[in-house]
Amino acid sequence: MNKTYKLAIVGATGLVGRTALKVLEEKNLPNFEYKLFCSKKSAGTTIKFLGKDYITEELTENSFDEGFDFAIFSAGGDTAKKFAPIAANKGCTVIDNSSAFRMDEDIPLVVPEVNPEDINLNHGIIANPNCSTIQAVVCLKPLDDKYKIKRIVYSTYQAVSGAGKNGLEDLLNHSQENDLKKFPHPIYNNCLPHIDVFMDDGYTKEEHKMINETRKILGRKDIKITATTVRVPVENCHGESINIEFENDFDLDEVKMLLKNSNGVILLDEPQNDVYPLATIANGSDSVYVGRIRRDFSQENSLNLWCVADNIRKGAASNAIQIMEKML
Ligand SMILES: NC(=O)c1ccc[n+]([C@@H]2O[C@H](COP(=O)([O-])OP(=O)(O)OC[C@H]3O[C@@H](n4cnc5c(N)ncnc54)[C@H](OP(=O)(O)O)[C@@H]3O)[C@@H](O)[C@H]2O)c1
Repeated sequence: MNKTYKLAIVGATGLVGRTALKVLEEKNLPNFEYKLFCSKKSAGTTIKFLGKDYITEELTENSFDEGFDFAIFSAGGDTAKKFAPIAANKGCTVIDNSSAFRMDEDIPLVVPEVNPEDINLNHGIIANPNCSTIQAVVCLKPLDDKYKIKRIVYSTYQAVSGAGKNGLEDLLNHSQENDLKKFPHPIYNNCLPHIDVFMDDGYTKEEHKMINETRKILGRKDIKITATTVRVPVENCHGESINIEFENDFDLDEVKMLLKNSNGVILLDEPQNDVYPLATIANGSDSVYVGRIRRDFSQENSLNLWCVADNIRKGAASNAIQIMEKML
């Protein structure tokens, strides 16, 4: 008889949790049972999922007593820190979307197209990387394998959905200084060079995440990386300009072929026909779209590219579900 898997969706009422449910509906995995958790605030919410009404439950220390095979956590770092170890101690494999465990030495940080083998190193918790890092490393991995990356300059254009449901409301409501729910300034008609908190060195935590997580996922602690992360008034899908310097020279057509043939990448690079990656194209997709691929003439062995991906799907929910599928 086939085994039935039990999957807990923690943060089921949030943007990532609801998208995870949508992705799971699309996949309709056989032999799966689900339970939906959230905070006390929205416990009791009815969510239609796979043709049934599910009632969300408050997450408590006893939630995992009944035995789960997997839990996808999308409920912030504090919740993960408190409840993920409880779940893991009860035999459940946790895939966590927060930044709580990403840089822990003994916790794998996984993008299935890049470092699936690291899944086997887990002791009950696997970290899902930051949304902006995921789409970048999907593009960078085949290029690093072929030409060896020396230095990366990231400049991001990140959608408000990356800041959760409150961020989305600040844009959709055109909120002004006195009624903002998430951002320090209006995001409507604005770009904010400020994602997550500022660190002592003048960078934001989001910029630190991109730098540190890229090195960990690629297994290349020596790559020089700098980043500027910017919130833009786009509902969903992050755009990124990536400047890459390689150890070795490359052929531009070969770079395009490599990316075109890479798992999880869709090449959209016909500038003469106005064809390049856009948020409106990537929205709802699990692929990373890449284009505007061109040589950086200011420096040897250097390249510019532009990539766009759905930050809630590939940047969070879908990547987590793909990790779970690899384990099945
Ligand atoms: N949005 C993105 O693009 C993205 C990408 C990558 C990673 N992430 C990460 O994914 C996580 C969720 O992000 P989001 O955008 O979905 O945020 P969100 O829309 O604000 O949703 C947060 C979810 O967490 C739940 N929650 C909060 N405190 C809880 C608690 N003590 N116990 C149980 N559930 C609790 C909320 O439940 P209530 O409804 O009861 O408040 C809600 O379901 C965050 O860690 C975020 O950093 C987000």
